[in-house]
Amino acid sequence: MSFPPGFLWGTATAAYQVEGGATEGGRGPSIWDTFSHTPGATADGDTGDVACDHHHKLEEDLDHLAALGAPLYRFSISWSRLFPAGEASGPPLAAGVAFYNRLIDGLLQRGVAPVVTLYHWDLPSALGHWASGERARLVAAFAHYARACFAAFGDRVQTWVTINEPWVVAVLGHGTGEHAPGRVDADEPYEVAHVLLLAHAAAVAAYRVDFGPTQGGHVGIALNSDWVYPAGGGADGNDDDDNADGEAAAVRGSSDFFGLNHYSSRRVATAPGRRPCAERLAAAEAEAAAVTAAAAAAAAASPTRTSTVGEDGGAAPTGGAATAVAPPPLRDGPAAGRPYFSDVGVSSSADPEWPVTAMGWSIVPDGFRRLLGHITTTYAPAGGIWVTENGLAATGETSAAAAAAADGPPAAARAAYLSSYVAAMAAAIADDGADVRAYCLWSLLDNFEWAFGYSRRFGLLWVDFADAARLRTRKPAFEWYRRVVAANGLPL
Ligand code: NOJ
Repeated sequence: MSFPPGFLWGTATAAYQVEGGATEGGRGPSIWDTFSHTPGATADGDTGDVACDHHHKLEEDLDHLAALGAPLYRFSISWSRLFPAGEASGPPLAAGVAFYNRLIDGLLQRGVAPVVTLYHWDLPSALGHWASGERARLVAAFAHYARACFAAFGDRVQTWVTINEPWVVAVLGHGTGEHAPGRVDADEPYEVAHVLLLAHAAAVAAYRVDFGPTQGGHVGIALNSDWVYPAGGGADGNDDDDNADGEAAAVRGSSDFFGLNHYSSRRVATAPGRRPCAERLAAAEAEAAAVTAAAAAAAAASPTRTSTVGEDGGAAPTGGAATAVAPPPLRDGPAAGRPYFSDVGVSSSADPEWPVTAMGWSIVPDGFRRLLGHITTTYAPAGGIWVTENGLAATGETSAAAAAAADGPPAAARAAYLSSYVAAMAAAIADDGADVRAYCLWSLLDNFEWAFGYSRRFGLLWVDFADAARLRTRKPAFEWYRRVVAANGLPL
């Protein structure tokens, strides 16, 4: 089962999950430093203070990557290692730039191309949080950071991912509170999703105008997406949501490729007593229009304010005396006249017939195949689909020996999961015309799995977190993946 020539295989990590070196080189605290140090926030109180100590073990990890032979490595830059307080002006810290230069140069020397994520959840603490309502400040800080990365590394980095899994940042960070900054709110996720898209669009615009023309790379976003099957049976449950907004133009077309993080599928149904999304959106729009009309009527009946300034800040039409106008609608945040939804009107569940991983996620390779086809036909991304993550977590790998036993034959759960997903991807490409260009396996190393701490291991390398040296041991799946890469496909 082989892949098209030039198909790109790789592995992936993220800064807070692997680097450690939390205060070195002037790195400032991020919201994940604060959150992981909050009692009860993570399993066993685990933090990323040391993590895999990748910051100090860079050369060793580069050598493992060379041995693996995969042509891509996806990693993220720690924003606060470059701008400790999320500064929106001035140069990045020299020590931070030097570290990522060593990483990028080390990769290129070994024939591995870097895929660089700018934001993998570690917002500098000094910036507060994404739902603060300070949209302009947050977007300006992110754009400044993005520009600094393009300027420092863009001569060698050809593939950029602006933001990793904005849905997770919004919902787990601000809806359920499972992730940093641990806020629990019904409306904040919508504000966060909104500002993240604006930040993404600002970074992409900066790249396209000032860097892309000379550097020649491409830029996208990594979205987590399950496939959804209808609860009542059948295969095709995905529906396109309507996220209307005046800022949509900045976001439309703002990804050169579709970065996809995919692990699982679900069954969904419209929740009893709730209206489907489209119906709820239409009702909300009607309500917003009624609010605006009522405000205009009230202002006309009792003019309290006159202005020569138009709604967008420009001069109002001239040709007469200043006229009474209604106050412009608020545009900034959930307090605006336009209602935000506090739920999406669906219930989702796992099919009891599907096996599950140690994360409790259903194993459904068929859903992966369908999703890849769906993205290709629905969005036709010019740069194709880049699978920026896919992988399997285990809990039983408590020692290098245990990992060798559990990860290898006969169970070989990781290779079995990965084989089934890689086979589904091969079928999507060969039989369904899916335009998939790259696949990054999560993860090169066992690492800090967010709220789960070190209790869930996704790595091809087993890491001894109990030992200060953070010894790495190759699991059987490392050799399995090396052969897949070398063969550009699954061994028969
Ligand atoms: C998604 C995230 O991007 C990554 O950080 C995480 O470790 C994996 N999926 C596994 O949950």
